[in-house]
Amino acid sequence: MMTKPVPSSFPVSDNVARMKASSTLAAMQTASAMRTAGVDVVDLGAGEPDFDTPQNIKDAAAAAMSAGKTKYTPTAGTRDLQQAIIDFYQREFGAGYEPGEVMATAGGKQAIFNAVVSLINPGDEVLLSQPYWVSFPEIVTFAGGQSVFIETEGNDFVLTADMVRDAITPRTRLIILNSPSNPSGRVIPPTEFERIMEIVAERDMYAISDECYLRFVYPPAKVFSAAVLRPELRRRLCIAGSFSKTYAMTGWRVGYALANAEWTRAMLRVQGHSTSNTTSIAQAAAAEALNGPQDSVATMLAEYTRRREWLLAALNDIPGLRCPQPEGAFYAFPDVRGCFKDKARTSRDFANELLQNEQTVVTDGADFGAEGFIRISYATSLDRLAEGVKRIRRVAEGST
Ligand SMILES: Cc1ncc(COP(=O)(O)O)c(C=O)c1O
Repeated sequence: MMTKPVPSSFPVSDNVARMKASSTLAAMQTASAMRTAGVDVVDLGAGEPDFDTPQNIKDAAAAAMSAGKTKYTPTAGTRDLQQAIIDFYQREFGAGYEPGEVMATAGGKQAIFNAVVSLINPGDEVLLSQPYWVSFPEIVTFAGGQSVFIETEGNDFVLTADMVRDAITPRTRLIILNSPSNPSGRVIPPTEFERIMEIVAERDMYAISDECYLRFVYPPAKVFSAAVLRPELRRRLCIAGSFSKTYAMTGWRVGYALANAEWTRAMLRVQGHSTSNTTSIAQAAAAEALNGPQDSVATMLAEYTRRREWLLAALNDIPGLRCPQPEGAFYAFPDVRGCFKDKARTSRDFANELLQNEQTVVTDGADFGAEGFIRISYATSLDRLAEGVKRIRRVAEGST
């Protein structure tokens, strides 16, 4: 029998060939490799809390393991976790969900993936506010959809209903909203959010609300979940939630999707043939995270608040650099175009210079669709932030 020759390179599928690798994960790996090599690296690239997972959550995982809860669970998650999520939304927002509208996922990322893949057909357009979280356009590409970017720089990165209306075409099927936003930290005011959802309903579209940073909001901005919207708007919505940031559980891989029962059934089909359920032990931990004491969330928020105040003042003191107020999450997103000197002409040059000359990791804004900006994570100690800002200042002043 004739065997076919082995191709000289792997024949990657067209959709995957069009996907970019995650630049935020790459930045974290760069920092980790530098640390291993003994370099005094300042890592301002991390998209994860520098806090440990609270002890009560770890204890719940250990107890689940000891009790033999180590087997497959339903694809939608254990009844305990589903109920904990339902109770949380009832308690915090007065929003009622049925078990058939809730599913546990391997991180918020899988909830977004499930939601996009179960809705989008090749050629469908998906609206993304620019700057966007790096995975949104790649997931859309994977599904064969077309990302349509809405530039928001003119409004200091806050999406408005008018911008959404102007971007809709007959092919628009979905919009992905992310408030507070990664990377800008900006928050869509609740009334504007509702107006956007009214347009979504009017135009027979759907929306994903990525609420991964739901609980990390700085006054006067207020915690807002799209779960509170009236039923005819909520029908159009899939909320993607996450335990990663709120409870410092990035490695546990637990998130959830809240959507109407039909959309949820479609997402369960996708997940049932990919990862099945998220880890049984992590689900027990996540249920405890929602049901148990919440003081760790308040402690983290207080610390992020302290760092944010300090960081914003320090960044805005650097000549040529301008940093608007993030209202949520744990990122500052300064405009560095005013600092471009002979060497640095793009934000990538600026980030590279920081890395090469100052061993400092930040993420290039161009990776989020915002050339000229850099993302600085303040999920790191004030000491390291202060050292990082010193180094950023040296690059900005061209003295490296
Ligand atoms: C905006 C946004 N959405 C979703 C996620 C996914 O988080 P996870 O999959 O860890 O829940 C992240 C993580 O960085 C994020 O920044």
